[in-house]
Amino acid sequence: FWFLLGRRRRRPGEPPLENGFLPYVGCALQFGANPLEFLREKQKKHGHIFTCLVAGKYIHFLTDPFSYHALIRHGKHLDWKKFHFATSAKAFGHGSIDPAEGNTTENFHQTFIRTLQGNALDALIEAMMENLQYVMLQSRTPKLQSNAWVTEGLYTFCCQVMFESGFLTLFGKEFNSNHDKNLSLKQETERARILNALENFKEFDRIFPALVAGLPIHLFKSAHSAREKLGEALLHKNLLKRDNLSELVTLRMFLNDTLSTFDDMEKAKTHVAVLWASQANTIPATFWSLFYLLKSPEAMRAATKEVQSILESAGEKVSLDGKHISLNRKQLDNMPVLDSIIKEAMRLSSASMTFRVAKEDFTLHLENDFYNIRSDDIVALYPQLLHFDPEIYADPLTFKYDRFLNENGEEKTDFYRNGRKLKYYYMPFGTGIAKCPGRLFAVHEIKQFLALIFSYFEIELVDNNVQCPSLDQSRAGLGILQPANDIDFRYRLKCL
Ligand code: HEM
Repeated sequence: FWFLLGRRRRRPGEPPLENGFLPYVGCALQFGANPLEFLREKQKKHGHIFTCLVAGKYIHFLTDPFSYHALIRHGKHLDWKKFHFATSAKAFGHGSIDPAEGNTTENFHQTFIRTLQGNALDALIEAMMENLQYVMLQSRTPKLQSNAWVTEGLYTFCCQVMFESGFLTLFGKEFNSNHDKNLSLKQETERARILNALENFKEFDRIFPALVAGLPIHLFKSAHSAREKLGEALLHKNLLKRDNLSELVTLRMFLNDTLSTFDDMEKAKTHVAVLWASQANTIPATFWSLFYLLKSPEAMRAATKEVQSILESAGEKVSLDGKHISLNRKQLDNMPVLDSIIKEAMRLSSASMTFRVAKEDFTLHLENDFYNIRSDDIVALYPQLLHFDPEIYADPLTFKYDRFLNENGEEKTDFYRNGRKLKYYYMPFGTGIAKCPGRLFAVHEIKQFLALIFSYFEIELVDNNVQCPSLDQSRAGLGILQPANDIDFRYRLKCL
């Protein structure tokens, strides 16, 4: 009977199985509607490991943080690349980037690590510092000419400032001469182009979860056209007209040209993938960090004090006469309060999911027991279960700005469950081999954003009693969730 419905029967030694009600679809609808609630319910029923049929795939969820390590320990039985490669090709429309399939021999993961970490990170941070100030103070000048308050949506503001600055940092600037007569006209044109790219990015990002779920992009006419327009903007011939391309983009262009057989548009689409990875999570993470700060006067006081003291010790003066503040990587690394605030904001808003695919039948060894896993099955972690666990994080839905600070005001790293110290307690960036290679840059850019906002602006919520927006679940499993609605805030330049 089960076989006729195309469903599996649980065999001895396998985890408890949930086939759901519908053939193929399985539990996809309940899971999709609210993954956290669904997984908590199944965890209550089955315990720390169970298998769910979700859209044709059997997923084994590990819910005990002391078992998370199994994913790394069983690295040789589990593949992380195929799923990522296939998802990227499907969502962004480039050919396969799996070297086994012959289009390219580039090791993308290595390229990312080489150009987003180590020395390359210093240059990214320096460029971002400059670009954030350019965007906050010059590119948006028309709005800031008087000392009057400007009211805007906080999410809209974070989107515009982070997208424009991040875009300029990775993909460089179109103009190059400060002595150019038409500089301001060129700046305006460039800004309009980037804001247009932002509109295309948003249009495409909206349907991203559907693409990951396997729907073809042809079903979404305007998002398809938005993705093609982003691709056109990032064609190599257009990137070559830009100055100050990041090492990431320069190296990726070189490797596209030398190691791949991609055509021009496919090469461009690999850059669209990088653009998406660099923005899709950073923007909402920036929003939540600033929103919680604005809601918590205590956090705001601690953050402002830390920023002022770092600026003082760096000998930096805040002024509006065109001289920008510069804080280097070391100075930014010395800001534990901002670190804790960003971590706490991401703990509350992250819903990433870690996936590995079984390369063969094997036995998964957990802490105290073991289970048979079949080839092609997925083993998954959903760290929001961990982030919202009241045993690990007391009062888990409340923002506590100093949750990640110890009694000496330094980074806190000891978190416990059942009296045992946890190795995995904070995972918005994934874990193991596929951990986000941009995580250091991401935290630095949010810190830079916050430090600059507090330096140059007075800023407040329009309504101090405004409710915290709920998390939009449509991107659950894919990273930081967006707010379900925007929040009005106002800001004006400080009188310096
Ligand atoms: C992959 C989170 C910012 C570049 C990932 C993954 C997560 C993640 C969860 C997948 C890891 C896995 O599958 O286990 C985040 C969050 C960010 C952020 C929460 C911001 C708050 C960035 C930034 C960049 C970046 C700023 C680049 C400038 C990438 C790339 C990958 C990736 C290239 C794919 C890695 C690979 O497949 O080799 N990120 N990320 N990310 N991220 Fe990030």
